Amino acid sequence: MIPDYEQIWATLPFPAFVLNTDNQMRHANSAAEQLVKLSAKHLQTRSVSSLFGENSVIADTVAQARAKSGSLMQYNVDVGLNDMDPITCNVHVGPLDADADSLLLLIQPTGVAQKMSRSITHMAAARSVVAMSAMLAHELRNPLAGISGAAQLLAMNANEEDRELTELIEAETRRIGNLIDRVEHFGDDRPTTLAAVNIHDVLDRAVRAASAGFASHIAFSVAYDPSLPDAAGDADQLLQVFQNIIKNAAEAIDGTHGKIKLRTSYNSGVKFAVGGNRTQNVPLQIEITDNGKGIPDALIAEVFDPFVTSKSNGSGLGLPLVSKIISGHGGLVECDSAPGRTTFTIRLPLWRSQMER
Ligand SMILES: Nc1ncnc2c1ncn2[C@@H]1O[C@H](COP(=O)(O)OP(=O)(O)OP(=O)(O)O)[C@@H](O)[C@H]1O
Ligand SMILES: [Mg+2]
Repeated sequence: MIPDYEQIWATLPFPAFVLNTDNQMRHANSAAEQLVKLSAKHLQTRSVSSLFGENSVIADTVAQARAKSGSLMQYNVDVGLNDMDPITCNVHVGPLDADADSLLLLIQPTGVAQKMSRSITHMAAARSVVAMSAMLAHELRNPLAGISGAAQLLAMNANEEDRELTELIEAETRRIGNLIDRVEHFGDDRPTTLAAVNIHDVLDRAVRAASAGFASHIAFSVAYDPSLPDAAGDADQLLQVFQNIIKNAAEAIDGTHGKIKLRTSYNSGVKFAVGGNRTQNVPLQIEITDNGKGIPDALIAEVFDPFVTSKSNGSGLGLPLVSKIISGHGGLVECDSAPGRTTFTIRLPLWRSQMER
């Protein structure tokens, strides 16, 4: 079947514009017409700055894309028109032809693309857990110590059969104790101290530890960008992030053909708004891909929420901690999953940009 581009253009669910050299709206699809409440014909006489404003994020992104003759993505920026409440969107601008005369402008309301901003949206949930965890952990420790102590006393005079039960009580109280440790660790709210971090060193440390332990059955491969600049990070926290993701990957793989791939790259076009007019650049990209069974469909939207787990002995705190740490770094984390291929992508800011503040 020959694709009918007109039809594809009309069917695109997001507002899309084609801009000519003067940044005038040469074409607009129907979602775009709805967004700006003008017909494509009327739009033809309008430029980006006249429509969205001279100093708007969109005009700025278009200018930047022109300047670097490449494509640019801005995450979670507010897009407003004169009489419209601003809506939060991801904005993509990229050249349509080789000499970059025409640009394609895509505006994606984040309701549709929340995937990218999970590490931000999930902070609210994470914060409520932090508050609750401190209280719960404190309240649970004493009774737990009491139960465990009582089981030990009972065990002293118990016969073989009963001792099995007291051992069970002790094992289970230990398990709850470990969970409390993890919740407390999660609630640890010390500020992140940033330094220059070589991501590859940290990834290597995570792989070494994993290979020596829980991931001994898995073949690791790396595709590092050797020129990757340092990240602004806390090496110990980032190690924890990579370990949590690698542990999940290892747990999703059964059998002997397990593979985990670590890839790093530099992607200068990724930015997102951090309040006011400031945007954060997160060009350092780390992808961790496994060939395991994939994230169950029912969980995919919630994996970064606390206590979401598909494992009988999982606490569901691994990924919320990942999300919390990456947010603390001013970065982003997202995941993409299908059976046989699950990728977690982390984006971090540069150490250099930290120095420039
Ligand atoms: N690489 C992966 N492949 C398949 N499923 C995954 C993967 N990573 C995460 N998941 C799913 O997401 C859920 C949440 O992960 P998370 O690390 O937060 O908790 P957990 O692994 O269940 O428990 P914990 O890490 O606290 O021991 C997992 O239970 C699993 O269902
Ligand atoms: Mg986990």
